[in-house]
Amino acid sequence: MSIAIFYGTTTGNTEEAAELISEELGDLVSHMADIAKTEPQDLLNYQVLMFGCPTWNVGELQYDWEDFLPRLEGLDLTGKKIALFGLGDAYGYSENFLDALGLLWEEIKNLGAPELIGIWPTEGYTYDESLGQYDANHFLGLGLDEENESDLHDERIKAWTAQIRTELGLDGAAA
Ligand SMILES: Cc1cc2nc3c(=O)[nH]c(=O)nc-3n(C[C@H](O)[C@H](O)[C@H](O)COP(=O)(O)O)c2cc1C
Repeated sequence: MSIAIFYGTTTGNTEEAAELISEELGDLVSHMADIAKTEPQDLLNYQVLMFGCPTWNVGELQYDWEDFLPRLEGLDLTGKKIALFGLGDAYGYSENFLDALGLLWEEIKNLGAPELIGIWPTEGYTYDESLGQYDANHFLGLGLDEENESDLHDERIKAWTAQIRTELGLDGAAA
């Protein structure tokens, strides 16, 4: 099993989250890179792709993801497992909390038939609206709020990575 983490970041928070996620997954992660320094073909080298994207500009993708996604046209991610994580501010941008998760999946899901893993309960988050929801009770991936709930990052990342291991059938695999 080869996992790669690709993140976009403007002020560094998503990079830090990516590092924490990578630490939790240990040797399972064979590659981690800023999406700004990634070529579309790089995605094909791994079975599991973790994509990290903060929401910016009120309900928009982070800039580097915005540039990268159009370059993926024609890429076939069939058979890949995709896990999303996003950074957002649930108080400052309560009507658009984690919207980028939704915008990202909207594009990725059409690249062949990738499988989404790591959907995550909305329970415990307080916000008004989000395009990042999978259904009424779940986000499309892990949500982290650096501005208001950074104290929950460790706990959330530990639980989410444990869930990912289970979904990948890797329970008990060495970290
Ligand atoms: C101008 C601006 C717009 C933002 N818009 C949103 C938004 O629409 N939704 C949201 O959940 N967070 C929003 N945020 C919060 C960022 O997603 C948050 O600060 C995130 O941690 C930034 O991640 P980065 O450091 O990886 O770029 C916004 C922040 C700023 C400064």
